[in-house]
Amino acid sequence: MPKAYVYTRHGGPETEAFADLDRPVPGPGEVLVAVRAAGVNPVDWKLRGGFRRPGEGDARFPVVLGSEAAGVVEETGAGVTGFAAGDEVFGNTPTGAFAEYALLTASVTAHKPAALSFTDAATLPVAAATAYDGVRQLDLPEGATLLVTGAGGGVGVAALQIARAWGLRVVGVAGEAKKDLVEALGAVHVPSGPGLADRVRAVAPEGVDGVYDLVGGEVLAEAAGLLADRTKLITAGAPPETVAALGGARVARARTAAVLDEVAELVVAGELDPHVSRTFPLDKADEALRAVEDGHALGKIVIEVAI
Ligand SMILES: NC(=O)c1ccc[n+]([C@@H]2O[C@H](COP(=O)([O-])OP(=O)(O)OC[C@H]3O[C@@H](n4cnc5c(N)ncnc54)[C@H](OP(=O)(O)O)[C@@H]3O)[C@@H](O)[C@H]2O)c1
Repeated sequence: MPKAYVYTRHGGPETEAFADLDRPVPGPGEVLVAVRAAGVNPVDWKLRGGFRRPGEGDARFPVVLGSEAAGVVEETGAGVTGFAAGDEVFGNTPTGAFAEYALLTASVTAHKPAALSFTDAATLPVAAATAYDGVRQLDLPEGATLLVTGAGGGVGVAALQIARAWGLRVVGVAGEAKKDLVEALGAVHVPSGPGLADRVRAVAPEGVDGVYDLVGGEVLAEAAGLLADRTKLITAGAPPETVAALGGARVARARTAAVLDEVAELVVAGELDPHVSRTFPLDKADEALRAVEDGHALGKIVIEVAI
């Protein structure tokens, strides 16, 4: 039976296990893929811990970990058009990706351009698409200054590059270990930690026009204080009520195949490098998840299932 990495109840890493599961059968609107690569995201350990997405019912254990994958179509479910066996695709999955087979949601699945690797494609549905949605939501004019917190993580590296590609000046807050990466991506680096607002003012004395927060907590609160117009404050890293209290909003996710096509095109055009810093084989999925769960991953972590 095909192998998968699962959690068997809600809790910490002790709930995780490798399992042999039946090959899934695609239902209506689903695409069965032989997984080549799966991106690893904070939401994976958050779901394991009991977090539920809006409208999501109770978990049915064992739950396969992972929310995004790239692979080759094996079979399509009822009502699915535009995909056929053998197509190379990437997309979102609510039913797990750290596995030899996964069911992608057809409406958030796109054809993988030949010039895009499976490894890079596997990082686009969650991190890069979230970055894209957020920068677009802020709708800043060319030449405006965008502050990105958590700039060296999965969403951050994509947000920096998309903002630069759209003509924004970008200030990226990240730890010292990520300074070189942030600068290489065309942003001004500001070290994270207490006193953040003063350090941002020093590099952007004319102020910032938008904030894309990817951290939450004190970092979000301090960054919010830098904005004259709080409608230009968004976060992917804090709950809606926290950011609403500061006058901002959660990033509104489009979750469409069209956005996946757009971010793939940016990669192919050389304007977006998802910056995969580490890869792990499926039988080291536990190590891959720990590398994200420690909260300080550099760029993206990917599980290469069959590369
Ligand atoms: N709503 C959605 O659809 C959606 C989608 C994707 C992600 N998200 C959320 O957005 C957040 C970021 O996701 P991601 O994939 O970019 O995560 P990630 O790859 O783990 O990156 C997070 C970054 O935050 C920084 N960080 C962590 N703790 C910090 C602190 N105390 N102060 C300052 N910086 C800190 C880390 O950088 P340093 O090492 O420099 O500290 C890290 O690079 C997560 O909360 C995730 O769940 C939401």
